Amino acid sequence: MVTSSAPGKVYLFGEHAVVYGEPAVPCAIEKRARVTAREIDEGLRVHVDDLTLDGYTVEYSDGDGHPDLEVDESLVRAGVGYINEAVSQAREVADRPDAGFEIVVESDIPLGAGLGSSAAVVVAAIDAATRELGVELTPEEIADRAYRVEYEVQDGQASRADTFCSAMGGAVRVEGDDCRRIEGVGTLPFVIGYDGGAGDTGELVAGVRQLREEYEFAADTVGAIGDIVREGESVLGTDDYEALGKLLNFNHGLLAALGVSSRSLDAMVWAAREGGAAGAKLTGAGGGGCIVALDETDGALTALRYTPGCEDAFRAELDTDGVRRE
Ligand code: PMV
Repeated sequence: MVTSSAPGKVYLFGEHAVVYGEPAVPCAIEKRARVTAREIDEGLRVHVDDLTLDGYTVEYSDGDGHPDLEVDESLVRAGVGYINEAVSQAREVADRPDAGFEIVVESDIPLGAGLGSSAAVVVAAIDAATRELGVELTPEEIADRAYRVEYEVQDGQASRADTFCSAMGGAVRVEGDDCRRIEGVGTLPFVIGYDGGAGDTGELVAGVRQLREEYEFAADTVGAIGDIVREGESVLGTDDYEALGKLLNFNHGLLAALGVSSRSLDAMVWAAREGGAAGAKLTGAGGGGCIVALDETDGALTALRYTPGCEDAFRAELDTDGVRRE
């Protein structure tokens, strides 16, 4: 039996603009998904014990080709749909097409909130299942196979950012298919606010695409986000949170101009700033979900907890570790 874990992520800079070839900087956070893999005689049994679902447990079996019970969409997103593909990757790597698995998933990353929960589950599952079959992959190989899983499950709608960040840990730079770790980044005191919802990524990306085609200034706005990322990279590693925070604020303003913020995201961003954060922005596709703030004190966290519309607020520092065996 092997247990592996992998972190979730926030976007420090660059979401949406990354779709048009600009760089982006996702960062791994100290919120993890843990996956335990145990080889069994045949088939696949999956237990998803998601802490955000009050310990609700799902048992799913494809041993006879049929699920044991109905699983609703959000639980499928919680990992069951991805686990099938992750396990297939492990079977392929180890050349054991008939290997059976019992998989247990536990996660402290809120689901569908733009924090990379599915990528973390897939990365940890591939690591645990391959190790259980006696094969050890490098984090880069796991990132690549996890990307293939997301690509498959999400019908071609996947970027390499989440899976690469989760496998490697730390701050990473993504530009097209080119992904690499940014070395020398110290601690980043992230505070995350979550409104309990999620935007529709496809719709939000389509909205930005339309604006960009319609108005040159919208295309310039996308380009300006790229400039913020390049500026941000030179500040990362200096511990100058004030300078980084200013860039987070600027990035949020440009995302809002592109129409991907929301009332609750704006309210949380302002609450965090007024609570003393060096800066704050939405993270991920937007429309709802999470904001990320930089704050060394408890000010932003306290302010967020008193903000109507903020369902959860927590601290999650930059996690320099990627996938690892527990
Ligand atoms: O919401 P998330 O964490 O899946 O991030 C979406 C990021 C976008 O740039 C909006 C889309 C993408 O595929 O890069």
